[in-house]
Amino acid sequence: MKKQILVTGGAGFIGSHLVSALLKEDKWDVAVVDNFDGFYDPEIKRCNIRDLSGSENFELFEVDICDRNSMDEVFSSRDFDAVIHLAARAGVRPSLEKPHEYAKTNVGGTLSILEMMREYDVPKLVFGSSSSVYGARCKVPFKESEDVTKPISPYAATKLAGEALCHTYSHLYRLNAVCLRFFTVYGACQRPDLAIHKFSRLISRGAAIPMYGDGTTRRDYTYVEDIIQGIRAAVDYDDKPFDVFNLGESRTVELKELIRLLEEKLGKKAVIDRMAPQAGDVPLTCADISKARELLGYSPKTRIEEGLDHFVEWFNKRQTIDSKAIV
Ligand SMILES: NC(=O)c1ccc[n+]([C@@H]2O[C@H](COP(=O)([O-])OP(=O)(O)OC[C@H]3O[C@@H](n4cnc5c(N)ncnc54)[C@H](O)[C@@H]3O)[C@@H](O)[C@H]2O)c1
Repeated sequence: MKKQILVTGGAGFIGSHLVSALLKEDKWDVAVVDNFDGFYDPEIKRCNIRDLSGSENFELFEVDICDRNSMDEVFSSRDFDAVIHLAARAGVRPSLEKPHEYAKTNVGGTLSILEMMREYDVPKLVFGSSSSVYGARCKVPFKESEDVTKPISPYAATKLAGEALCHTYSHLYRLNAVCLRFFTVYGACQRPDLAIHKFSRLISRGAAIPMYGDGTTRRDYTYVEDIIQGIRAAVDYDDKPFDVFNLGESRTVELKELIRLLEEKLGKKAVIDRMAPQAGDVPLTCADISKARELLGYSPKTRIEEGLDHFVEWFNKRQTIDSKAIV
């Protein structure tokens, strides 16, 4: 008998990689909830899961996590062993423009998932949180034990609220909940709004890339396959009823260096448009991953140089397909 798992946001960037990995294990029936929201082109998400939807162990529910009746149908369709909750409005900067939408999906939606899990007695939740919860003032590298009560964007605040709700439900209803703080994830199918993908698109077209600040901001970039390994380990983790882990690479790359690497991999010079620093952006992210290493066996293997090779290989193939489609 296969185990039953629900992945919310399973058509998105990280979600589709995860669903693919779960199906390869051949011990899960995977249900996906995704509403193909318009944050970026829904066609990209359909494409992400096109090859997966032929599997007899895969079922797609094209519904909104905030829609109570639809979620009732999903949870009554089978007895889930676990939920991996990745559906969200992602992105820091757009959250300043549309804070209500972020609160609705990321806080209301997470609450709706937790309520369903309580009602249907689902024992295990893995929640996709974010390094942004550390705000701008935490000591580097960021440790899970830091006080994270000072987020500096609506997105970060909604992720923190999601973590708090997971803790509450775990405390009240004996749900086993693991919150994973992802540090900037990249790889094939990366969201088109994220820097690596956006810069690659602009550089390859010869268009200017916006560089916010003087290029000295630093990010801990994590290759998507490493993140999937961490998520997968979190599904099996049950040492404590509630826990939080960083999933990063634990090395930081300066923005200027990232652009230089992309120029090298794409074989093209970038035109840089210098802009003022963006409100809500943090100057630095850097994960302390010793806790995840010890308790989850998390072991990121892909350095940025190698991960960018994989990304650019996918990106170039994708460009060829796109340009053929346009012709
Ligand atoms: N990519 C990163 O670098 C990163 C970093 C930190 C945290 N995260 C978190 O990881 C998760 C996945 O991120 P991603 O980069 O794959 O983003 P994504 O936008 O590609 O995936 C999110 C998916 O959720 C779906 N969704 C959104 N609202 C929904 C709703 N109301 N009902 C059902 N489905 C809905 C979207 O259609 C999308 O397919 C998110 O929770 C995000 O906040 C991502």
